Amino acid sequence: MGKRPFIIDCDTGTDDAIAIAAALYCNEVEIKAITSVNGNVKHEFTSRNNLDLIEYLGFDIPVARGAELPIRYNGYHEDASDTHGVSGLGTIKLPRASRSSFDRRMAPELIYEAALEEKGELELLVIGPMTNIAICLLEHPDLVKLVKHIWFMGGAVIGGNVTTTAEFNIWVDPDAAHIVMQSGIPLTMVGLDVTTAVAMKEEHSLELRACGTKAALLCADLLDYMFIRRDAGGEDAIMHDAMALASAVYPQCLECHDYFVDVECSGEYTRGHTMADLGGRMGRKPNVSVAMKVDGPAFCRWLTDAIMRSKDNENKKCS
Ligand code: RIB
Ligand code: CA
Repeated sequence: MGKRPFIIDCDTGTDDAIAIAAALYCNEVEIKAITSVNGNVKHEFTSRNNLDLIEYLGFDIPVARGAELPIRYNGYHEDASDTHGVSGLGTIKLPRASRSSFDRRMAPELIYEAALEEKGELELLVIGPMTNIAICLLEHPDLVKLVKHIWFMGGAVIGGNVTTTAEFNIWVDPDAAHIVMQSGIPLTMVGLDVTTAVAMKEEHSLELRACGTKAALLCADLLDYMFIRRDAGGEDAIMHDAMALASAVYPQCLECHDYFVDVECSGEYTRGHTMADLGGRMGRKPNVSVAMKVDGPAFCRWLTDAIMRSKDNENKKCS
């Protein structure tokens, strides 16, 4: 069986970067493109981070820009620069990519054309707000028949990290998330219920430093930035986005259940909430496989090993 074709849609930030690094060296997948969206930080930074990251790690794959604002922009722009730093990569400064050209296509067009080319085999790893995916669905409704699976980091059955009921990726663009939830494309949701149950530790950073590849050293630097953030009272070294990758290529570390899920798109206190019908009381057909438990040590082991596979593939090129 050939490698599974993936596109990663992301708001590259610190944990996005670690997930991208792990995905690039995963033997199971072939990254066909990276597309950016506004989210953790402004789109000018998320898009630039992708271009710099891909060139720094020695890959030659399309990098496309995407949505700079949510579908229904209400004038309030929440960003997570307090968590990811102004540039989105903490204090890490990657060399400026010499390749200044993004792909000529914007994210929705690139995603659709790739879906046509892959003839129904394309999978999407969506680890930021879902704006690009929703726009692609609105412009090309036949996408639902062309995307094999969407693995996304977002939402929470219980809790939130922007409000007490909403997780950041969904909160930024709940309308987009609603469109994706209702699309009929097979979905796996990796939300705060599992991502916040485990954090990387200094031992993982030390192991990556000992590995010594560019990818491993970069991820060690990103983790060390997160440890400083954690010790200053900020978010722990939580691998939100890499866990969404794990759901696709290392599902044995997660326990998932099928539920009907939809998104509250307005509401003074509930905007951005991912409502999961845990009791099946609504009589609605389950549309999402929701990760509810994680084997934390196994996940951290897998992620560290995935990044260290860069040793075998230092300059693996994806077509
Ligand atoms: O809530 C966590 C999510 O928001 C992650 O994807 C992180 O990168 C931020 O985008
Ligand atoms: Ca993200």
